[in-house]
Amino acid sequence: MAKTPPVIAIDGPSGSGKGAITQRIAETLGFHILDSGAIYRLIGLAGRKHDVDLEDEAALIELARQLDIAFKATGYAEDPLSIWLEGEDVTRKIRTDEAGVDASKIAPLSGVREAIKQLQRSFRRDPGLVADGRDMGTVVFTDADVKIFLTASAEARAQRRYKQLIDKDISVSLHALFTSIRKRDERDTTRAVAPLIPASDAVIIDSTSLDIDEVFNQVLTIVKGKLD
Ligand code: C5P
Repeated sequence: MAKTPPVIAIDGPSGSGKGAITQRIAETLGFHILDSGAIYRLIGLAGRKHDVDLEDEAALIELARQLDIAFKATGYAEDPLSIWLEGEDVTRKIRTDEAGVDASKIAPLSGVREAIKQLQRSFRRDPGLVADGRDMGTVVFTDADVKIFLTASAEARAQRRYKQLIDKDISVSLHALFTSIRKRDERDTTRAVAPLIPASDAVIIDSTSLDIDEVFNQVLTIVKGKLD
């Protein structure tokens, strides 16, 4: 029987460095990427575009089921995927803090989470997948070969997000980002469905005082130990 492609689940709060680590691990191993947060952001964007109330669960479920999205490889290591909604390149649009806040308001809706479960699982293809999110190890890929939970203090995460957005010419205030991250943490960790918590079999890495290379090396060592 064909072996199921391996999955590396990388979960953690906003700004913990999951995205960057996911990209580097995927690039090193030649694996596919699932940026699950982008799917929640895309539902929010589609909702705004079609004037859907972001608290109307039934309408959002319908939207999620018919979501016309594409992730295309750019060929650039820095930004490996461009993200499309209904034929429009929204790679930049979905990265704003507002899009993140919309996503975190939609995320507690269990019907929406259920509606995109299969879509997320369809990213599991050979030679393997690195899946980045909040519930990759606890809900979507409970059988993941490797589970990492990446975290850092809210201050460190706000600083990193600030730098990322400024580097992309997206203007934002550090204080506003810090407040928004704290609120988002609160919503993500206290929601009833798929709350942000480490899987019982996840390796927890606190990156507050580590640089990206140190985190990458730790994660790669864990991944190699488990996949070899
Ligand atoms: O990771 P990112 O910041 O793009 O995620 C945006 C929001 O989407 C998160 O704050 C969270 O509320 C939600 N999310 C989720 N489950 C995931 C990924 C993201 O609930 N697997």
